[in-house]
Amino acid sequence: MAPRKSREAIDISRVRENQALSHPTGGPEGHRPLKLLEDEEVHLQKGGVKLTDFEVRGTLGTGTFGRVLLVRHRSSSNDPSSQSHFALKVLRKTEIVRLRQVEHVNAERYILSRVHHPFIVDLFATFQDSLNVYMLMSYIPGGELFTHLRRAQRFTPDVTRFYLATIILALKYLHSYNIIYRDLKPENLLLDSRGYLRLTDFGFAKIVDDRTWTLCGTPEYLAPEIIQSDGHGKAADWWACGVLCYEMLVGYPPFYDESPYGIYEKILNGHIHWPRGMDPLSRSLVRAFLNPDRTQRLGNMIGGPQDILDHPWFRGVDWDALERREINAPIIPHTSSSDDTRHFLHLPFPPAAEIPGLIQEETTSAIQRFDPIAYQFLEF
Ligand SMILES: Nc1ncnc2c1ncn2[C@@H]1O[C@H](COP(=O)(O)OP(=O)(O)O)[C@@H](O)[C@H]1O
Ligand SMILES: [Mg+2]
Repeated sequence: MAPRKSREAIDISRVRENQALSHPTGGPEGHRPLKLLEDEEVHLQKGGVKLTDFEVRGTLGTGTFGRVLLVRHRSSSNDPSSQSHFALKVLRKTEIVRLRQVEHVNAERYILSRVHHPFIVDLFATFQDSLNVYMLMSYIPGGELFTHLRRAQRFTPDVTRFYLATIILALKYLHSYNIIYRDLKPENLLLDSRGYLRLTDFGFAKIVDDRTWTLCGTPEYLAPEIIQSDGHGKAADWWACGVLCYEMLVGYPPFYDESPYGIYEKILNGHIHWPRGMDPLSRSLVRAFLNPDRTQRLGNMIGGPQDILDHPWFRGVDWDALERREINAPIIPHTSSSDDTRHFLHLPFPPAAEIPGLIQEETTSAIQRFDPIAYQFLEF
């Protein structure tokens, strides 16, 4: 049976990220990055925009650690060419601290403020007030791939190929900076107005030169080495690509159970049920990603991600044209205005008291006076 609800991310920190034990380097994952993220320019707007410039239009989603609002920039209504609607991710600071996500939230901001890719959501500005930290992003109006997949039940290999190929390009780009994403799943993939995917939710993304040890991600998508606390790196993202590919083709993930422990058992046991209709080439692709031995896993061998691009399942894909967004997408989400939210759940508005800085301007000193943990989010 396919799970109905969207699935929650988890983070059970067994070893604090920064205390990661020193580990012999030089495995297939332990390469120097092709590019350094710290060399990339920060593309956030400095000054000029403030929280009170925005009005809340609705709630787009609630995740494990906060909520995402649809907001409108008040003064942009006269100029139809300028972007007026944005997604604002709101995270409660006390919750971030309680759930030990301070490092993750700061990494999310650090990474998203420097990366720039056609298949990754854009971050424009960040703020904080006495209660929350805020991340202002482009509003991606087509809804989650999750919604479209559950509606269609499953995708054809051609549709699956389009989506998977874009994700592979996004991950290849991130990995070139040694950024691992760690939370691939259809809930975190949004369709933009042209039907192209945008990767959102960098809550678990991390710059990792070799391996890291935190057990985080979403149970159905975890690679065996994450469950076994063996140290994981880029190869865990390629494993998740195998899970995503299977889920798109079949309609439910390859390792499924009612409880997370049941799921972990199935992942470690490695048995995959192949529905009868699945063609041999698709099977061979999924199997190549879902190799428990990460030194033999597609994407993580000597040829790196190029091996994926060269896999026969992708024959005929024009990767450059795809990255230039020149290929027609399989589903063009219908929207009638820039604030159309028909593709999202209709969730209630947050109470005004929960978003103080959006309602009334707070000064930085007021934030610091009332909020003893503001110093943990200095970049916001
Ligand atoms: N830029 C965006 N545009 C539209 N909806 C978004 C955007 N970012 C997030 N969402 C919606 O909000 C949900 C939760 O956001 P996400 O960043 O995944 O938070 P969490 O870390 O809590 O899972 C997403 O699954 C999606 O439905
Ligand atoms: Mg999410």
